[in-house]
Amino acid sequence: ELEETPMELGGEQGRWEEERLKTASLSFGAKKEREQGMKQEQEKYQLILEEDEMIDFVTTAITMKGTRSEKDAPALSQAELKKQSMQEVRRSLPIFPYRDDLLAAIHEHQILVIEGETGSGKTTQIPQYLLEDGYTKGGMKIGCTQPRRVAAMSVAARVAEEMGVKLGNEVGYSIRFEDCTSERTVLKYMTDGMLLREFLTEPDLASYSVIIIDEAHERTLHTDILFGLIKDIARFRSDLKVLVASATLDTERFSCFFDDAPVFRIPGRRFPVDIFYTKAPEADYLEACVVSVLQIHVTQPTGDILVFLTGQEEIEACCELLQERCRRLGSKIAELLVLPIYANLPSDMQAKIFNPTPPGARKVVVATNIAETSLTIDGIIYVIDPGFCKQKSYNARTGMESLIVTPCSRASANQRAGRAGRVAAGKCFRLYTAWAYKHEMEETTVPEIQRTNLGNVVLLLKSLGINDLIHFDFMDPPPHETLVLALEQLYALGALNHMGELTKLGRRMAELPVDPMLSKMILASEQYKCSEEVLTIAAMLSVNNSIFYRPKDKVVHADNARMNFVVPGGDHLVLLNVYNQPGIPALLTHLPSTASYPPRLQAVTAGYFYHTARLSKGGYKTVKHQQTVYVHPNSSLFEEQPRWLIYHELVFTTKEFMRQVIEIESGWLLEVAPHYYKSKELEDSSSKKMPRKQGKTKEELG
Ligand code: CDP
Ligand code: MG
Repeated sequence: ELEETPMELGGEQGRWEEERLKTASLSFGAKKEREQGMKQEQEKYQLILEEDEMIDFVTTAITMKGTRSEKDAPALSQAELKKQSMQEVRRSLPIFPYRDDLLAAIHEHQILVIEGETGSGKTTQIPQYLLEDGYTKGGMKIGCTQPRRVAAMSVAARVAEEMGVKLGNEVGYSIRFEDCTSERTVLKYMTDGMLLREFLTEPDLASYSVIIIDEAHERTLHTDILFGLIKDIARFRSDLKVLVASATLDTERFSCFFDDAPVFRIPGRRFPVDIFYTKAPEADYLEACVVSVLQIHVTQPTGDILVFLTGQEEIEACCELLQERCRRLGSKIAELLVLPIYANLPSDMQAKIFNPTPPGARKVVVATNIAETSLTIDGIIYVIDPGFCKQKSYNARTGMESLIVTPCSRASANQRAGRAGRVAAGKCFRLYTAWAYKHEMEETTVPEIQRTNLGNVVLLLKSLGINDLIHFDFMDPPPHETLVLALEQLYALGALNHMGELTKLGRRMAELPVDPMLSKMILASEQYKCSEEVLTIAAMLSVNNSIFYRPKDKVVHADNARMNFVVPGGDHLVLLNVYNQPGIPALLTHLPSTASYPPRLQAVTAGYFYHTARLSKGGYKTVKHQQTVYVHPNSSLFEEQPRWLIYHELVFTTKEFMRQVIEIESGWLLEVAPHYYKSKELEDSSSKKMPRKQGKTKEELG
């Protein structure tokens, strides 16, 4: 799950945003007649909010057709749902009437594509049906993959509850760094990445009777690789059942890829959703979300709200703003429960979104696109969709990966809207214009395999003995340059020999469930005799978010607190220092001395020599591609500006920022990557130190 939130938008996105800004200021400046229909509601609302705080939605709603009308089956309220026993709830799911047909189809076909509206019961019910039908006899397992960690955990918990067993016994989950399964586990939910790794220890997945590749429409890198591998093993494991489950998207393509496997369609049970667009683009979508939530809360009948934002920081900011405004409005408005959901949220907090809303109150769930199809929250009637998502993009020429907030696809927007029509007729408020929907959004999202670094996957495939990657059975092949670059990088890291074969080092690297550069760094630490420290650094780097909390209203405070942890050498050593602070005093007898810093930095260099930048006019330039990059303002080296840097990652916000940087000596590069760097490219143009750009030198500071 990607959680970096760019401060501003750039590139393609920037143009979109600029466009919005222009129009927004024009239309907000002008006084307009408001349409009759909205007038009354808005007057009510104005008692609470100023006029300029309101969002003007187009009142002629476009309705997304539901497949049945409201009177066919009255919507169940949360309270009623709770009252029913779990088994009754199971029987009320759209998939239930098709249970026997589905089992018959699975019996008949080895590979089956299953299509069904989000929330119809695919993920929670199908594994249970299979278990009831005897597919776990003799201790055989049913595996179900999820692209997201949160989904794997929460769905496993739900199924364990439905079956009345303890999570981790018969029903368990396995995600990177956390294995909640046991000998008894027969229903195993796991991330797609974890199943990929299982191929290393069990290449034919012999312990599984059924593999469900769920959320197939997400087309994550790992899911795409699984498609190829599983299609291959299904040829010689005729007893293995393969189910490819997907929301109502793209299913023909899956069928086609799996040699025309039949598609089993679970008829939807969706209520109509009215879609509203803004009349003019919104300049600040976060603010627009907050205002829309309050607008709905004050003017609309009962029903919970779901807001789609792009990442943790944005979600936290939105929740804070909402809570603050609610406090200010006090008893003038009904209770509003504000609940965030994103990948790194602690699981007890995650579970809260499923709690029923108390009578008289309203719940607003502020989510990443995890709530698009992976998780279903009952009771949602209103959806607010700003139309953005965070996406990885990859430059195959420079090998640079960045996370960018971009407009989501029309397919995503429609999935989001669909969330409003699960329990009753709903409304979706799109914080963009109908024109933007038509002309500025892509039809579908580009599969991850076409916009990401493939180092990890190539290493894994090589260790599975798949040498000819060009002819691997990809559903959509990655760009040729991306494959070639991955091979080159693995060669430079010493994981492959010049024949493209896995080396001993490469095999060891593949065993670590981390990116090749990180595993190289960890393995290199052995040679520099600092494995313990480097492991700590690796762990700290693997935390998705900054470990430093920086709330908007306490920026100065937060920055000062962070400064207290600064040690020379760079951010990796700061992370180590932070980790060691509340450590066990006994372990700190060998407190790190400055002399012990270089080996750690050298170990990092051994893994990340690709990420070297050299100080140049106005910023830094990457050594190989001469791309201009900058030290992130939150870095401990922001003011120091050392001549040679290695960065952990690049994030593209207002500029290309290097996050987590260390200072190195250029000579180390020749030592750790003699086949990659030539001493000529590392020559300094002047022998003198360059003048420091910003801030004061350490001497000046005393
Ligand atoms: O996979 P699909 O989207 O088809 O549906 P599902 O995830 O199996 O969800 C079926 C039902 O289980 C929905 O009504 C969910 O609200 C409910 N569920 C839940 O209450 N708690 C969870 N952690 C997961 C699902
Ligand atoms: Mg599902």
